Amino acid sequence: MSLIEAPRNSDWTGCIDFGTAMSKAAVVRRKSRKSLTSADVAALAIGDRDGVASRNKLLLPSIIYVTDQAVLFGEEAQTAAIRGERLDREAFVSPKQYLSTREPEERDEPLNSKIDPTGAYTARQLLALFLAHLLVQAGRAAKAAKVPWPVPLRIARPAWEQARAKAGEKALNSLVLRAFAIADDLGDKLSAAKGVSHDLARSALRKATSNARFDDPAAFPHVFELSNNGSASVLEATAVAAGSIRETGRRVVVVADIGGGTSDFGAFMTGLRGKDVLAEIRDSSRVLREAGDHRDMLLTRHILDDAGIDREDPAGRGAANRLRRDQRANKEALFADGEITVRLGDDVRTVRHGVFLADPRVRAFAERLRSKFSETLAFAIECARQYPLGLDRPTPVEVLLTGGGHSLPMVKEFVTSPPIPWKYLAASPEIPDGPVEEGFRAVHRQLAVAIGGAVRDLPHQTSPVRVKDTPDASATEAHVQPNPAGIIRQTVDILDAAQAVHETARVDHQPAAAYASGSTRPPAAGAQPAKSAGPRRLASRTKR
Ligand SMILES: Nc1ncnc2c1ncn2[C@@H]1O[C@H](COP(=O)(O)OP(=O)(O)OP(=O)(O)O)[C@@H](O)[C@H]1O
Ligand SMILES: [Mg+2]
Repeated sequence: MSLIEAPRNSDWTGCIDFGTAMSKAAVVRRKSRKSLTSADVAALAIGDRDGVASRNKLLLPSIIYVTDQAVLFGEEAQTAAIRGERLDREAFVSPKQYLSTREPEERDEPLNSKIDPTGAYTARQLLALFLAHLLVQAGRAAKAAKVPWPVPLRIARPAWEQARAKAGEKALNSLVLRAFAIADDLGDKLSAAKGVSHDLARSALRKATSNARFDDPAAFPHVFELSNNGSASVLEATAVAAGSIRETGRRVVVVADIGGGTSDFGAFMTGLRGKDVLAEIRDSSRVLREAGDHRDMLLTRHILDDAGIDREDPAGRGAANRLRRDQRANKEALFADGEITVRLGDDVRTVRHGVFLADPRVRAFAERLRSKFSETLAFAIECARQYPLGLDRPTPVEVLLTGGGHSLPMVKEFVTSPPIPWKYLAASPEIPDGPVEEGFRAVHRQLAVAIGGAVRDLPHQTSPVRVKDTPDASATEAHVQPNPAGIIRQTVDILDAAQAVHETARVDHQPAAAYASGSTRPPAAGAQPAKSAGPRRLASRTKR
């Protein structure tokens, strides 16, 4: 039976995290969060290929390379791109940007001839082929890991702004359906070394594209794991929270997922001890459409400016192109080793970490990142303020850094030098008990979205807060002009109503590293929690 029609094993749920830089996938047994052990969680080795080296099998580089004969994926595409450079060819990197940042109509335009010398493919088609490769890889990896496949899937996505969210979500789900159809057609050929030939790729694409059923993901409910709101998508920061925050009493956690294309933020709160409840603080999520790729571009620019090279000038173009091709690897080496040496024609230049961080453009980027983080943090702090652990015991805000950019200095400063004074704790994704592999540990902060997105219970979400319900009626649009105090009071009330508990929370969870910053004193009396902490019937509904 075809993959797309096959009944799903609904004892497990899967999540596809189609990353801008690195794609990941995981399956998790359908159980409550607190009863999960490592045996119930499988990060799939979608980067594992016969005859192709990979840096970490759990990561599949989101890269496609079109040769004269075939379409290549992942590490193989990356290697081919380096060889193809002398032919003035380019890989199709960060394909997810076509969903996250580009205009929708660009998906169906022909690609630059350096990327597609055959002129046969649009961005949408290469996206579908890449996802088909990912699905075949996931099936093979699931078999090797002895976990079921296919399973109902959630698809992770950034917290796109409203205008993009609905159409973006549908486009992504349709792509996944077409990818299943292509995977049905081509099977293991999509995983073979040397890629898939143009004849095969084109014929599979023709069939998948002509089937209009795939434009309606609702016609394939068994393929997706649908939440109560009918959506198969999970926001990236929400997925991190679902898989990384275990039940240990009342906690307020801010997630910062710093990826390749977007930096995603969200604030969450757990219930009281013994109550496995996790809620997303309504309207706290934020996205900055700049992350690792943006830093890569700034590094290339920094080096060229420093060397006085004009990348538009024919004399500088070769060096500039080479630098651009290697920019992601250059940046990773710079942050890992503290300096890098690059060749620009006959010139050899050294770039130091500190000098790059002091570049005004890098500082401006760090400021934008910090400012987005602060917006989400304001919600978390207001929530912690309203619910102290006891007299003179403010609830600390935990900061959970995930994604490939979690160790960047400007990101670590969220905890070591936070923008708003409060008591902070550094948190790390909480891995379920049981043995886990070294390869997993090395990248577990990058896997947090895929794993969390496959956990059965996503955080509760409160329904939209009506502005007249908030104490500050001057805040006209909660999602644009946040009014954390008003919004959070409702969210917390909903948590408490769900739990029907009156007592004051106690938290004795102690993450490994704790940082105190600024004032750790309880907030002013006016900011103490409302007396209404006990259960009461609310106008707002909760939904999963
Ligand atoms: N040691 C490192 N230092 C700096 N950056 C790093 C390091 N390791 C990975 N990165 C960067 O992290 C990014 C990839 O992280 P991640 O896998 O979380 O992103 P993604 O999920 O592909 O992107 P997105 O979530 O935005 O779609 C890349 O920009 C990569 O260069
Ligand atoms: Mg990501």
